[in-house]
Amino acid sequence: MKIVRLRTNHFKNPLGCNVSDLSLSWVVEETNAKKQESAQVIISNNDKFNLESIIYDSGKCKDADSRSFRPNIKLEPCTRYYWKVKVIGDNGDLAESDIATFETGKVNESWNGIWITPDLNKDVHPYMRKDFEVDGSIKSARVYATAAGIYEMEINGEKISEEYLLPGYSVYDCWMQYQTFDVTKYLKRGKNVIGAMLGKGWFSGRFGLGGLENTYGDRMALICELIITKEDGSKMIIATDESWKSHAGPISKSGIYDGEHYNANNEINDWSKETCDDSNWTGVKPIELKVGAMEERLSPPIIKHEYFKPKKIITPKGELVLDFGQNMAGWVEFEVNLPKDARVFMQYGELLQKGYFYRDNLRSAKAEYEYISNGKKSHVRPHFTYYGFRYVKVDGIENLNPDDFKAYAIHSHMDELGEIKTSDERVNRLILNAKWGQKGNFVDIPTDCPQRDERMGWTGDTQVFSGTASFFTDTTAFYNKYMKELREEQKLINGSVPVIIPRVRNQREVGTGHGSSAWGDVATILPWTTYLYFGDKSMLEKHYAAMKAWVDYIIREDEADGGKRLWQTGDHIADWLALDNPDKSDIFNGGTDQYYVATVYYYYSVKLAADTAEAIGKKDDAEYYRKIQKEVKEAFCNEYITPNGKISIDTQTAHVLALFMDLLPKEHINRVAEALKTKLVDKGIHLDTGFVGTPYICRVLSSVEANNFAYKLLINDDFPSWLYSINKGATTIWERWNSINTDGSVSSTGMNSMNHYAYGSVVEWIARDVCGLNPVFDKPGFKKALIKPQPFAYLKNANIKYKSASGTYVSSWELSEDEKVKYAFDVPFNCEAEIILPDAKLTDVVLKGDKPINIEERDGNVILKVEAGKFEAVYKPTQDYYPCLNINSSLKDVLENEEGIEILRKYIGASLDGFQNIPELRDMSFNKPLTANPIFGPLSLLNQEQIDALAIELSKCRVKI
Ligand code: BGC
Repeated sequence: MKIVRLRTNHFKNPLGCNVSDLSLSWVVEETNAKKQESAQVIISNNDKFNLESIIYDSGKCKDADSRSFRPNIKLEPCTRYYWKVKVIGDNGDLAESDIATFETGKVNESWNGIWITPDLNKDVHPYMRKDFEVDGSIKSARVYATAAGIYEMEINGEKISEEYLLPGYSVYDCWMQYQTFDVTKYLKRGKNVIGAMLGKGWFSGRFGLGGLENTYGDRMALICELIITKEDGSKMIIATDESWKSHAGPISKSGIYDGEHYNANNEINDWSKETCDDSNWTGVKPIELKVGAMEERLSPPIIKHEYFKPKKIITPKGELVLDFGQNMAGWVEFEVNLPKDARVFMQYGELLQKGYFYRDNLRSAKAEYEYISNGKKSHVRPHFTYYGFRYVKVDGIENLNPDDFKAYAIHSHMDELGEIKTSDERVNRLILNAKWGQKGNFVDIPTDCPQRDERMGWTGDTQVFSGTASFFTDTTAFYNKYMKELREEQKLINGSVPVIIPRVRNQREVGTGHGSSAWGDVATILPWTTYLYFGDKSMLEKHYAAMKAWVDYIIREDEADGGKRLWQTGDHIADWLALDNPDKSDIFNGGTDQYYVATVYYYYSVKLAADTAEAIGKKDDAEYYRKIQKEVKEAFCNEYITPNGKISIDTQTAHVLALFMDLLPKEHINRVAEALKTKLVDKGIHLDTGFVGTPYICRVLSSVEANNFAYKLLINDDFPSWLYSINKGATTIWERWNSINTDGSVSSTGMNSMNHYAYGSVVEWIARDVCGLNPVFDKPGFKKALIKPQPFAYLKNANIKYKSASGTYVSSWELSEDEKVKYAFDVPFNCEAEIILPDAKLTDVVLKGDKPINIEERDGNVILKVEAGKFEAVYKPTQDYYPCLNINSSLKDVLENEEGIEILRKYIGASLDGFQNIPELRDMSFNKPLTANPIFGPLSLLNQEQIDALAIELSKCRVKI
């Protein structure tokens, strides 16, 4: 037995993070034990764990919860704690973990440091420093710091952290995150220097819709204190005060959107070293900032992750472009050795167009980097910006050697958990693109895109992708921080939720940009989703207030409109970018009625609030919200569903939402599912859903046993489809189905990002339905899983390996030549699963591996109840998983099928030459074209009997995959 992944509040050995609601977690591996006999958590003041130092000992607890163990202890400020866990399995196997640590921040301790700003022009990017002398030997030292803007801190010439873009992006005027660093190793006896470089960042730089500056203030400022503990126990404090000095630094301009200008001639090489003579430096001034209370950080660290080396391209225009092969968020670092004053100019972009460097889709974002050489050999990197890019155009370096350049993907760090693979390389690339969508858009806050002049925390994008993100990584800490931002904003607008969090300046000034359904519902969906996936109840407890405030806001809106239990007021973004707006010139708004979407989400959020209230023991609230939930459903059905079960809003998304959110009376589910299929058939089985319908369409289809439709949507590679972008070489998820036209040209420049993860939410369906791995709300964090794979022959195999909060699950399937399906599952220690083997007869199933504790055949499936173990099953399914032609097939599909052509020929006799080349055929099913359309002349002559016979024959034809 081995105990791994010890985390405190989902951080690895956090330093100065807010752990006031302490939650410890770990994972047990490599054991044959099935269940935990006991676990014992011990917390100590030192790493010796001797008797006097132990401040908490749970004793051997049978039900100690490895997903979130919450010891009830009082934590002291600025204190390091050590903890470990001992686990005993039901077979006697046991293990003791390594030691993990966490250290509290200043908590309520007052600050010695004050906010200071350089006594320089407000746009000058400063060096700031303070020298000091330490006598006696140093035992330990901590820096507590934050900045208005972005800061990088050094001590004695060394950057004190591997993090970038600190302090990250917050609703600064409501709360200010500060960071804690262990700087013991950078200090020495005698002379020392501490210093910082500052940039404008999100605080005062150009940012947000309209690209306004000075959202939170117009000056860069720093607050910091260095607390040195000496061996003799005495303390020394160096804090920001008026004795600090400042000097203009090498950065002349910086901005999140616009990039950075760096003049190495202005570098002061030893600016943070004792050797630097700062006698001619300018002073600093104290400054009153309009910022909120100082609080310990919640942000996971933004660090460098993957790196990529470029290929050099010379475009037809002679431009020198570096292709890093992957769209990402981050920056390029390089080595230079250029004459003094030589200028390197770089522009970042996502695309080439006809071989030329292209970046009109960045809109007003300059996304550039200028470097002026001081004639010395240097390693160059940006400091106070980041870019969304795959390509970089470089000017100013003759005989550029691509080996001198490296692109770093820079994003918030999270434990990576899930790997999903299928037999189709294009689908695998799609999954990878969604993962890269996450990496590129998890830069302290969940953003819409990392390249153009937005990069903002759009709430709708966040909520639709949260399930997928939680299959890829442990999102708890990241979303916990975002929920804090949400709550702060929400307090300013009476419980409503902005469409962008943190809100940007012009929205705040005008007081708009909040209260849109599907976007605002992030308030209920994020806490609920993270609890479901990771089982840490503190996510519900902490954020219940936000969930409740949002739901109560909707209820108030409804009450003000007569209490109809519908949401039919306000402005809602609704099915953003869907393709079904009857007004084809509107390329933004989908065709699904906004109040329909609003009412659906009203229902969904009230339901999640009721679920949550139940889970955290708020009985009265639970009853109240359940009652409203019921009333909304009734009102929704009366308003939008005919007594016979027809939905009055005739879009794919309207059907998908009613099914997914469980808004239909049982007796209508079938009819609505059939109507959805017909709508798909009408489009040649293609989707026209937007941000709201897309995340659920395949999940809904799988839930109504229409895997043939769901898989077809996945496997299509013509517009609009997921794989269309793969065929066009995408390495991230596009914002629009047609971000790139079929001829390779960019479809529009106004709003067209190549790295927008919303449509990547299809991965949640691949994980949950294709691979079959589902969390269960009653036993969240995969303490129990519902494993229900749904193979279909558009793929030959699929598997997921998921390092859940409770241990590693595997679920895989493979179709064999003899049309059997082979399944394999791993269920981790101390977990249980219900495995549903689809379309199976008990007598046909050959089981291998550990023994299920219960097997039964129900509703045409075989159901295994299992505890930890490895399981295999092989059988021939009772259903055919191979797609066949049918009456709903498009003419194109039939004409692509040799057997299909033969059959068709028999019926219509005529020559079929040339039919293949008629694009409209793609969306024409046999059901439809029996009209006077000349293309279908021969078909329209068939009578119903002939058509029925044709259909039967066609259904024997397997679609070639
Ligand atoms: C953003 C989106 C967002 C949308 C909503 C866009 O500009 O990029 O992703 O959700 O606006 O209006």
